[in-house]
Amino acid sequence: IALLIGAAAVWFATNAVRATPPAAGALRFENPVAVPPLAESHVEDGVRVFALTAREGRTSFVPQGDTPTLGYDGSYLGPTLVAARGEQVRVDVTNDLPDTTTVHWHGMHLPAAMDGGPHTPIAAGALWQPTWTVDQPAATLWYHPHLHGRTREQVDAGLAGMFLVRDDEEAALALPRDYGIDDFPLIVQDRSFNADGSFAGGLGMQFDGVLGDTILVNGTAAPYLDVTTGKVRLRLLNGSSARMYDFTFADGREFDLIGTDGGLLEAPVAATDIPLSPGERAEIVVSLAPGERIALRSAAPDPALHAGSAEFDVLELRAAASLAASPDVPAHLADVPAPDAANAVTERTFVMSGHNINDTQMDLGRADVVATVDTSEVWTVRNDNPLPHSFHVHDMQYRILSIDGSPPPARLAGYKDTIALEGDREYRLLVRFDDYADPTTPYMYHCHLLWHEDQGMMGQFLVVEPGQQPALTRPEGDTD
Ligand code: C2O
Ligand code: CU
Ligand code: CU
Repeated sequence: IALLIGAAAVWFATNAVRATPPAAGALRFENPVAVPPLAESHVEDGVRVFALTAREGRTSFVPQGDTPTLGYDGSYLGPTLVAARGEQVRVDVTNDLPDTTTVHWHGMHLPAAMDGGPHTPIAAGALWQPTWTVDQPAATLWYHPHLHGRTREQVDAGLAGMFLVRDDEEAALALPRDYGIDDFPLIVQDRSFNADGSFAGGLGMQFDGVLGDTILVNGTAAPYLDVTTGKVRLRLLNGSSARMYDFTFADGREFDLIGTDGGLLEAPVAATDIPLSPGERAEIVVSLAPGERIALRSAAPDPALHAGSAEFDVLELRAAASLAASPDVPAHLADVPAPDAANAVTERTFVMSGHNINDTQMDLGRADVVATVDTSEVWTVRNDNPLPHSFHVHDMQYRILSIDGSPPPARLAGYKDTIALEGDREYRLLVRFDDYADPTTPYMYHCHLLWHEDQGMMGQFLVVEPGQQPALTRPEGDTD
């Protein structure tokens, strides 16, 4: 046994990737940040049809050499899909990888069979055509693989992209919304590189996964963004597999937080920082003066868990000498009714500890929760660990009722699908199972630190009609 423990310790030590980005101020911003192209689509019998192809490629990030990567359509990341509330969409996903994958629509309300979790593998060479009607408020969602046990590997290699939902209410507001002009997606990831340019940390990691020393934004290292308008809207996605960020500007300037995972907040929240754990999104609007350069940075929110906790640079905003005027951010953004737990039919507790939830590991053949369609439940979630964890639920946007008995701060009071769990705190969530009953295919809830998820820190819930018997099936080929 001692030998085994020794071997494991060596394995972790030699494979550990736990690096720190250079301290703020040290980075030279040399590369214009890539803006993911908008995905093309066409309308076929009233259905908006997109096509995505997952494939292998090589991408140039660092001078020491090209990096073998995966991407949708291109060599790294994927195009941004845009659809309007009320539209029926279909995505023709072709898997050109030599390997099975899945595509999960993170944050989307949709039938479980279309959700792209581990129950809907796409074999190498196969085509998958999920279709659903977009029915949720305007929001910044994203997509990524969700293959059981291998999500981190495929996401870290480059498979991820944005999915923007539009709606009439958001479109009527005086907010920046010209994609690539005054409205930018920023997919923030950390990576480390081997001497030959390949990604480091492919095989093994520390207990919480890869922490890299190079920050990529939309796949660009040392990035800057040219700004031509007085205000710019940044749709921040923490697309990293383990690193938590606390986004802030170098001069501590205030910005407006206008939206979170599932859409706009009731009113803008004036903030100087916004923490995001892996999978979370925030939409912010920041003002710039003509000609100025200002760095978006991150402080590591938990120094104990993120080696070398100094503030580090993410991206520089470079304002043109003259800027087109932008209107003031509206004082009211959206109607976000207060969460009401009065009609919740059940309460459940989820204790996150080690790589387990309630002392159990993910089993594709077990329904951990069976919920009834069109009901709400209260889920109490606790992180019992010194490890960082988070809590993501598929299919829905939930609401935080309380944190340790107190109402959540304004930045967490809107629609959320992923939250960071601070140690020893109790988060009461109002979850709602709208619309789609299916006794055979489950949705997932899990820690969104991808290595934890891969290790089994995940559970499954079925949504059934009242009185319907669950009949969960294992995905083909699963032998757990
Ligand atoms: Cu972003 Cu279950 O995933
Ligand atoms: Cu998800
Ligand atoms: Cu975790």
